[in-house]
Amino acid sequence: MRVVITDDASAVANASAEVLCRQLVTAPASVLGLATGSTPVMLYKELVSRYQAGQVCFAKAKSFNLDEYVGIDPSHPQSYRHFMQQHLFDQVNIDPVATQVPQGLADPKIECERYEAAITSAGGIDLQVLGLGSNGHIGFNEPTSSLASRTRIKTLTEDTIAANARFFEAHEQQPTLALTMGIGTIMEARQILLLATGEHKAKAVKAMVEGPVSAMAPASVLQFHQSVTLVLDVAAASLLEAQDYYHWVEKMRAQTT
Ligand code: GLP
Repeated sequence: MRVVITDDASAVANASAEVLCRQLVTAPASVLGLATGSTPVMLYKELVSRYQAGQVCFAKAKSFNLDEYVGIDPSHPQSYRHFMQQHLFDQVNIDPVATQVPQGLADPKIECERYEAAITSAGGIDLQVLGLGSNGHIGFNEPTSSLASRTRIKTLTEDTIAANARFFEAHEQQPTLALTMGIGTIMEARQILLLATGEHKAKAVKAMVEGPVSAMAPASVLQFHQSVTLVLDVAAASLLEAQDYYHWVEKMRAQTT
């Protein structure tokens, strides 16, 4: 795991945008795995501004989002499809038919099989962006998820429902089920880029990087992936024991590149 510790959320967005842009410049027809949540909002903003400045092109790219709520219309302001349109797809030149988000209104079993097949027929995911739940989830793979799981329906934990309640109006029915890429699906991406910011993520970051691999801390499975970059701010990294080492490695890398 490469652990990059930056000053703040804006530095996290810049460093991650750099990784994504490098991917698209090197391989314009890349298949991207994309994430929602508050954390990647600044990353998408940075990508939009780099696109407007002519530094990156999405014309040949394809994308697959990690997850979507069950029973929610794609036009609902809290659907992950809507989030992606608003923060990225409507603002860059990605081909609308090349963007996939699981369909929350479809028959879940059929939709999950279709999604897995679509990822396979696109040639697999080249670069997967991930956020991190404060309970250690990736996508909506809640603690105790099988580390070999595939795209499927998951019941959200009460913690996750509470954490995401801020996005829903008081009168709205908040979904309690989601379709999510499985951990096995995520682990097949050729490269993984995980972003985490804020002190409320510090415990989950510690478990992911320095804890034992465990289904109770789903992100810890990334220790088994060969190409993972974690971009953290100081608050999210604050509980890591080997911080000096991670800084040292980055210093060495800067001198040799
Ligand atoms: C959500 C999403 C995850 C996301 C996580 C953290 O529930 N399903 O993909 O990474 O929670 O979200 P945030 O970035 O808002 O903290």
